[in-house]
Amino acid sequence: MQIKAITVSELYERFSKGEDLTSLGEIVIEGWVRTNRDSGSIGFIALNDGSCFKNIQVVYNDKLPTHDEVAHLITGAAILVKGPIVLTPEMKQPFEIHASEVEVLGQVDPDYPLQKKRHSFEYLREIAYLRPRTNTFAALYRVRSVLALGIHEFFQNKGFVYVHTPEITANDAEGAGQVFTIMTPDEKGKLSETDFFGKKASLTVSGQLHVEAFALAFRDVYTFGPTFRAEKSNTPRHASEFWMIEPEIAFADLEDDMDLMEETIKFCIRYVLDKCPDEMAFFNQMIAPGLFDKLNHVLETPFTRMDYTKGIELLQEAVKKGHKFEYSDIEWGMDLQSEHERYLTEEVVKGPMFLINYPKEIKAFYMRENDDGKTVAACDCLVPGEGEIIGGSQREERYDILKAKMDKIGNTAGLEWYLNLRKYGGCIHSGFGIGFDRLLMYLTGVTNIRDTEPYPRTSSQLKY
Ligand code: 4AD
Ligand code: MG
Repeated sequence: MQIKAITVSELYERFSKGEDLTSLGEIVIEGWVRTNRDSGSIGFIALNDGSCFKNIQVVYNDKLPTHDEVAHLITGAAILVKGPIVLTPEMKQPFEIHASEVEVLGQVDPDYPLQKKRHSFEYLREIAYLRPRTNTFAALYRVRSVLALGIHEFFQNKGFVYVHTPEITANDAEGAGQVFTIMTPDEKGKLSETDFFGKKASLTVSGQLHVEAFALAFRDVYTFGPTFRAEKSNTPRHASEFWMIEPEIAFADLEDDMDLMEETIKFCIRYVLDKCPDEMAFFNQMIAPGLFDKLNHVLETPFTRMDYTKGIELLQEAVKKGHKFEYSDIEWGMDLQSEHERYLTEEVVKGPMFLINYPKEIKAFYMRENDDGKTVAACDCLVPGEGEIIGGSQREERYDILKAKMDKIGNTAGLEWYLNLRKYGGCIHSGFGIGFDRLLMYLTGVTNIRDTEPYPRTSSQLKY
């Protein structure tokens, strides 16, 4: 190639800084055809080069040496365009490129599954490897990439230390029995659960226990990586592999924990609105009308904090007043279904909320027992349209109480180190886990986790 290609994103950046793009002379752009309209003497290609959400319009005429080939290009073709930038202040796009040469780099077979029209989410899930070429998924995965950095920026700027917790573990951090067990072939080639490590190993369901140890050295830490759960819930919000952000803070109680959760969510909203304006405008317009209003409302409103016990009362009242739940036997001690969480956040609070102090029986062993002896200092953050997006708690820092609990459920073996943290300079500490894929659903208005993940894994679904 004689001239190095310039990206559309760079063109927009230079343009926004007031640079005269026509003075660049002939430039080269490489990208993929989104649409092509040819009317004989003149033709228009909407070209996307992947560098930003916006397309660039390529204008060509019948003097183009490759005109016949170019006029027949269909959606998806890869091309190289050479020509000058022409300013178009009267048009929707501020500039376009007038092609003096177009080289076809990659033709498209006629069976190409993507067409000019809008496809359904379901259809696109079946061709997950091609969906980043559509507007919706290009927007989603760029927001995903940008927000991943945002998460790091947020915590690093606050002085948090990023910890790479292991993906292979010897414990079920949540004690919920939803682990994927790792098997390897032994000498005879027979699959074994214990041959490799000499004990059972599994993929991590949460980095929390490991990150707690670091919080008791660095004070403020976080882990952010993939986690795995072998739960067969076939819902729009459950995946077998998902990313989780798990901060852990020492010398901090549940109130401090909730403050940090709220700050994190608000930061993420501001970050994507600021860094991905085109993508977010697309979601607001095409995917989830009212999204901006919803997000801006969240930014301005303090999150409601409500006791689990109060939540149960409100749900019972709702049933009395005739509200129909699928599970309408509401009683203290039950685990809330998504419909109950959504009722509280959508109908009662009408915004994000924290539900706190859950019955200890339905929550994980590491959560700090409250003085009532019945509840734990746990907290779920619930949001309209989705239900739970964050789960967190103050951790049990008292050795005897924690040991008794762990002995009772029989998970002390192998977790002595975790208990030791309570003996060796233990202090109150708290933390939480945000499902990154669910957070993206919330921020973009996309309603299925299979769409916020590039290659979703769910029970019975392992394509690509
Ligand atoms: O509530 P969970 O199970 O909490 C924990 O794992 C704690 N160890 C977190 C902590 O305190 N450090 O999961 C936390 C969040 C949920 O609120 C949800 O957003 C997400 O992880 N999550 C899932 N996301 C997608 N698919 C699944 N199967 C998920 N399970 C949990
Ligand atoms: Mg939870």
